[in-house]
Amino acid sequence: MKVLGILGSPRAKGNTDLLLDEALKGAQSQQAEVEKITVDKLNISPCREYYGCLRDGNCVIRDDMDDIYPRLLSADAIIVTSPIFFYSVSAQLKALIDRCQALWARKYVLKNLNVPLRKGTFIAVGATRGERLFEGPILTVKYFFKAINAEYVDELLIRGVDKRGEIKSHPTALDDALELGKRLVLPAT
Ligand SMILES: Cc1cc2nc3c(=O)[nH]c(=O)nc-3n(C[C@H](O)[C@H](O)[C@H](O)COP(=O)(O)O)c2cc1C
Repeated sequence: MKVLGILGSPRAKGNTDLLLDEALKGAQSQQAEVEKITVDKLNISPCREYYGCLRDGNCVIRDDMDDIYPRLLSADAIIVTSPIFFYSVSAQLKALIDRCQALWARKYVLKNLNVPLRKGTFIAVGATRGERLFEGPILTVKYFFKAINAEYVDELLIRGVDKRGEIKSHPTALDDALELGKRLVLPAT
C-alpha cells in the first residue's frame, strides 16, 4: 500500500510537519510504502483558469505539478496536512489543490479518471480554539478528495498550538497522529 503525505506547512519541523512524520511512521509500521511531499519546496503556480484541462484532463502549465499528478493518482491513501491560515489551508497547499481542477475535469467532464476510490485523511493545526476553526478547511479538503476519487475517512484536528514544535508538549497529538497512520493502512473492521 502506498501512502502519500502532503505537507501544507512552510515551517520545517513545525507542528504540522511533526504530526505528518508521526502519521507516516505509523503507516510505515504497518508495512506501507510512504512518500512525503513538501509543497513549500515545490514550484506550483496557482490555477490560471486557462481551462486546457477541459479538453484532455491535463493542465497546460508546466511546473512541479507535472510530478505531483502521477503521485496523487498512484497513491492508495493520501494524508493532507495544513496549518490553519486565516480559517483556511495554507496558500501553498491551496495552489496544489486548485491545480487538481485537471483531475476534477477528468472525473466529471471527460469521465476518464481511472483510479479506484482511495482513502483520504486530513491533519490540521491551529493556534486558537474556536469551535468553527476547521470548518472551512474540512470542506475544501473533502471536495479535493472527491475530485481525485478519494474518500475522507479520518482526521486529526488540533487547536491551541502555535509556536514551532509546540505540538511536542500536547498531551496526545503525536500519539494520535501515529495511530491515524496505522489506521489508514489497516483494513476497516
Ligand atoms: C499567516 C498565518 C495565518 C494564521 N491564521 C490562523 C487562524 O486563522 N486561526 C488559527 O487558529 N491560527 C492561525 N495561525 C496560526 C497557525 O495555524 C499555528 O501557528 C500553527 O501551529 C502553525 O503550524 P505549523 O508549525 O505546522 O506551520 C496563522 C498563522 C499564520 C502564519
